[in-house]
Amino acid sequence: MIHVTLIGTQDRQIEEMLRVSGIDSVRATAEAVASNPADVVVFDVRGEDGLPPVISSIKRQHPDLSIVILASKLEPALLLDAMRAGVSEVVAEPIDHEELARVVQRLAGTRVHTEPGRIHGFIGAKGGVGTTTIAVNVATSLGSVIKPERALMIELQNTAGDATLFTGAEPRFSIADAIQNTHRLDHVFFRNLVTQIAPSTDLLASPERAAASGLDVSRIKQVIAFASSVYKHTIIDVARTDRAMLEALDQLNTIYVVANQELATVRSASRIAAMLRERYGPDKIALVLSRSDRDADISQADVERAAGCSVAHTFPSNYRVALQALNKGRPVALDNHNDLSASFKRFANHLAGVRPARERAKSSGLFGRLTHSRS
Ligand SMILES: Nc1ncnc2c1ncn2[C@@H]1O[C@H](COP(=O)(O)OP(=O)(O)O)[C@@H](O)[C@H]1O
Ligand SMILES: [Mg+2]
Repeated sequence: MIHVTLIGTQDRQIEEMLRVSGIDSVRATAEAVASNPADVVVFDVRGEDGLPPVISSIKRQHPDLSIVILASKLEPALLLDAMRAGVSEVVAEPIDHEELARVVQRLAGTRVHTEPGRIHGFIGAKGGVGTTTIAVNVATSLGSVIKPERALMIELQNTAGDATLFTGAEPRFSIADAIQNTHRLDHVFFRNLVTQIAPSTDLLASPERAAASGLDVSRIKQVIAFASSVYKHTIIDVARTDRAMLEALDQLNTIYVVANQELATVRSASRIAAMLRERYGPDKIALVLSRSDRDADISQADVERAAGCSVAHTFPSNYRVALQALNKGRPVALDNHNDLSASFKRFANHLAGVRPARERAKSSGLFGRLTHSRS
């Protein structure tokens, strides 16, 4: 049985929300909790101006206590204060009873049977092939497909990457902070490490400066696992040249090698694909083609034959749109009406398991016609 203590709430609904999920709660004052801690404390700060200082003093006295904050808004300043005070989770309005119950159960250590999110990796066969462009834009599109759930892009490399250029983001923290603090990984901490790059998409950026000791394989895996417990879809832009990163990809559902129709890239793609198949099994490895060119000497079939795996998607070449996005620091996928962003959207739908409207309408067949459904 989980014991939850509610502090600072006049809202009877919170108790009811917990009760329907089989969680008993009692109300108490902050002083009472300090002397007699429960498993989880839910602190309602919706009427407050900022975070009451008593929260950090309770946490100091009882470091093992899990504290959940109910807030009226997810404000960065409040999140930062919450993180500093050692708060484990912030649940904001509109408060969803399933989310609240899930948070409390997880913090109380009971197993929650929610499926982990899906993780898709992209590795460029060569530098400049368009990997970061694809990762940023597919993550952006995925966010809008799965809204209100969120998508995450991780830039898995040990030096400053280009994701910030493509998104205009100015991250304060990076994957290196996540890796150095795996013992502190919880929702609030993680949410402070990421930067929003689109309405429903966050970025965990690469570090400005390389971590001297490099990045440790088992810790990279821990960060990826944690990300997939928070985000429904995680897209990883994997550095091709870093061994530790290439060895940390067990949890990925699919790893896409990004190629184009140039001889040197195809040769490199075939080497990387073979290495990845060897390590992770053939079912997990596929290709995507960047800047596809119908008139190229090397066809899609040639690339597939050379690399020994099929092309899951091709992205058209659109120099003008790609350059514009870079100049504005705004992902292509946020603008409609061009072939490149439509292509990102189609691939995002594929990854999310959403079929395009036309296909759905076709397959609804007789029943669809009878009910005049126009899905
Ligand atoms: N589909 C595309 N059409 C035209 N230019 C593109 C396309 N994708 C990427 N680019 C451009 O190619 C360059 C390299 O892209 P980038 O994503 O940084 O590659 P990588 O991460 O593989 O090094 C950038 O200038 C980008 O704007
Ligand atoms: Mg790149």
